[in-house]
Amino acid sequence: MESNVSHEPVLLSEVLEALNVKRGKKYIDATLGAGGHSEAILNRGGKVLGIEADSQMLKFSEERLVNNCPTLVRGKFENIVAISKSQNFAPVDGVLMDLGISNFHYESLKRGFSFKKGTEPLDLRLAPADTDVTAAMLLNALSEKQLESLFEKIIGIHKSRGIIKKILRARKEKPFAIVSDLQNLARQESAEIFLALRIAVNSEFEALESGVRGALEVLNSGGVLVVISFHSLEDKLVMKLFREFEQKELGAISTQSPIVPTEVEIERNPKSRSALMRIFKKI
Ligand SMILES: C[S@@+](CC[C@H](N)C(=O)[O-])C[C@H]1O[C@@H](n2cnc3c(N)ncnc32)[C@H](O)[C@@H]1O
Repeated sequence: MESNVSHEPVLLSEVLEALNVKRGKKYIDATLGAGGHSEAILNRGGKVLGIEADSQMLKFSEERLVNNCPTLVRGKFENIVAISKSQNFAPVDGVLMDLGISNFHYESLKRGFSFKKGTEPLDLRLAPADTDVTAAMLLNALSEKQLESLFEKIIGIHKSRGIIKKILRARKEKPFAIVSDLQNLARQESAEIFLALRIAVNSEFEALESGVRGALEVLNSGGVLVVISFHSLEDKLVMKLFREFEQKELGAISTQSPIVPTEVEIERNPKSRSALMRIFKKI
């Protein structure tokens, strides 16, 4: 890992307050990442089970948190129920899901997460151990219809059609392999196109739904689920699930409007700008 890269935990004080962190209570950090939120929970005396899909990130946080003795597992939050049972950690007082990827993914993992790094492979897998299918493979193999459903939710039908035409033409001449192969086709919408591909490669919406349902299952009565998402489609899905839980009288939504970073946080950490935090309290 490059030593000049760091990842600042987003909405840290808001997360600690929402989880109501207390000495001896149990918390699952379902998106361990660089371990920033976990470190703060551990420093307040909470017990932590950390789950991380990406083995490189897990190694990094293992080194960072070694003195605090948390339980750290390489796995996916879709399997939070099985993981927490196998670690004898459930039920818990709080679960945190801080979605998306960390600065390390953009800056040093060399799997094509940043559309600015042209020579990296067009990979975008969070957990290469779990799947062989990369973003380049999707671009080379999917039909026009399949590409439409991959892109249209994120960049809209009109823009998707334009970019898909370019993709179909380009792959006839040379298969997609590295970031610049795609970057050259769509300078304007690069960020959204990379986001759509990352979501598809990692089945992120399906994972989020299973993760949120599983998190509710492992919570104690009175336990809290905190989800931080970074785009409106994720936030909509989280709210849809929270409303369903409320209708089933499983608990209550504590945030009708999302909690967002302060101006001061955004100035210090511009990447926090799009964060939207939601809280659900189990009965
Ligand atoms: C925004 S980062 C978390 C940063 C962390 N809260 C911190 O303060 O350092 C999100 C992390 O979740 C991981 N991740 C994404 N999808 C996951 C999944 N389905 N299961 C487990 N971890 C996942 C990513 O690899 C990434 O390291």
